[in-house]
Amino acid sequence: MAAPTILVFDSGLGGLTVYREIAAARPDARLIYSADDEAFPYGPMEESKLILRVLAVVGALIEKHRPDLAVIACNTASTIVLPDLRARFTLPFVGTVPAIKPACAASATRRVSVLGTEATVQREYTRKLIAEFANGTDVTLIGSARLARFAEAELRGEPVADREIADEIAGCFIDSDGRRTDTVVLACTHYPLLLHRFRQVEPWPVTYLDPAPAIARRVGQLLGPARDAEPGLSAQMVTTLGQKPPAELEKALFSFGIKEFGGISV
Ligand code: DGL
Repeated sequence: MAAPTILVFDSGLGGLTVYREIAAARPDARLIYSADDEAFPYGPMEESKLILRVLAVVGALIEKHRPDLAVIACNTASTIVLPDLRARFTLPFVGTVPAIKPACAASATRRVSVLGTEATVQREYTRKLIAEFANGTDVTLIGSARLARFAEAELRGEPVADREIADEIAGCFIDSDGRRTDTVVLACTHYPLLLHRFRQVEPWPVTYLDPAPAIARRVGQLLGPARDAEPGLSAQMVTTLGQKPPAELEKALFSFGIKEFGGISV
C-alpha cells in the first residue's frame, strides 16, 4: 500500500509543534505542513469569516494533495470550524482543542490556567469544556493577542525580550487562598515554541500541557499501526503566500525535516 498522506494545517508556524510529534510517530507517512500565512493571525478574525476561510484553504489543499487524514493544528480554528469541515469533506479530521480535561484531572492544587488566543478563550466550545470537566478545579482563562506573533518571531531568529513574554503569561499565575496555579494548558499550538522562554520568566514552576503527543496518538489510532519508513519520503510545506522562507526560518524548518516549499492559491 502507498504511504499515507497526512495534511497538518495551521494559520502559521504553530502547527509545527503538532507536526513534529506526528512526523516522529509516522515515519511511514508523507507529511504536508500547510500554513495560511496570508491570513495569519486567526485570533482576531471574525468567526463567520474564519469558517469560510478555513473551508476554502483546507478545501484547496485537499483537492490538490488528496490527503488520507487532515489535522487542524490550530485551536482558534478547531474550536469553531470542525463541524463544518466534517460536514463538507469525507476524510477524517483530527482537531486541536484546549486540554482542559487532563489538566483539571492532574492539578494537585486545583488551580489551572488556560493560555490561548483571545478567540479561543472566548469560544463557547472552551467554556463548555470547563463546565463539563473542571470538576471543582478553578480554571482561569488568559487570552493573548501577541504570543503567536512572538512565537513566529522566535522561529525566525528574532526573539522578543523576556519582559514582553513575562507580561503575556503573568495572568496565568494565581496565588490565593494558599493555593497556587500548578498547571497551564497551552491552548494555542504556537506556544510550545516558546516553552523555554516561559520557563525562564515564570514566577514559579508549573506544568505546561502541550496536546501534541495526544494528537499524534489519535492520528495513529485512525491510520492504524505504522509500517516501515519508506525511503525518500520528504515533508513539504505549503503556504497561501507561497513565498520561499527567509534564511533563518528556512534553517529552523530544516530542523523540523521540511526541505521542500510550495504554495496553494485560494
Ligand atoms: N496556532 C493557532 C492556535 O492554535 C492560532 C494563532 C493565530 O493564528 O492567532 O490557536
